[in-house]
Amino acid sequence: MYPRISNLNRRQAMTVAGAAAAAALVIAAPSVALAREDLQGALRELAGKVFYSADRPGRWKGKEKVHSPLIKVDKDGNDLLIRAATQHAMSDDHFIIKHILLDAKLNVLSEKLFDKIFDMPRSRFALNGYSGRLYIVSVCNVHDNWINWTDA
Ligand SMILES: [Fe+2]
Repeated sequence: MYPRISNLNRRQAMTVAGAAAAAALVIAAPSVALAREDLQGALRELAGKVFYSADRPGRWKGKEKVHSPLIKVDKDGNDLLIRAATQHAMSDDHFIIKHILLDAKLNVLSEKLFDKIFDMPRSRFALNGYSGRLYIVSVCNVHDNWINWTDA
């Protein structure tokens, strides 16, 4: 039989609380690792189907070169300048709509919308104090979403 919480002295209560905290850490630690694996697994599963990349072009095979965004990161202390370019022509009926910058957990950090008449599909993003994986999604109005990544 377990003692009732209300019957524990201070030392016993601290022991129970410590054990509960340790159990929570043991349970939480694998779930964090699993979440990362789940994300990578989901990305692998969806690449070439829901979105496309240079190595998984799916139904758009042959379109990689003009859709997969190029990424360059310059670092100056804690400041990051991320530049992305898609080597895609801009015309009235076929153009790059936008670039989306995502963090390592696929949260949107910023995006740049393009004017099909005045813009080339090139974007610049400034971040401060970020390190880790960055994703750029380039969105074509005909050939869907293309993703590339780099580590900053
Ligand atoms: Fe396209």
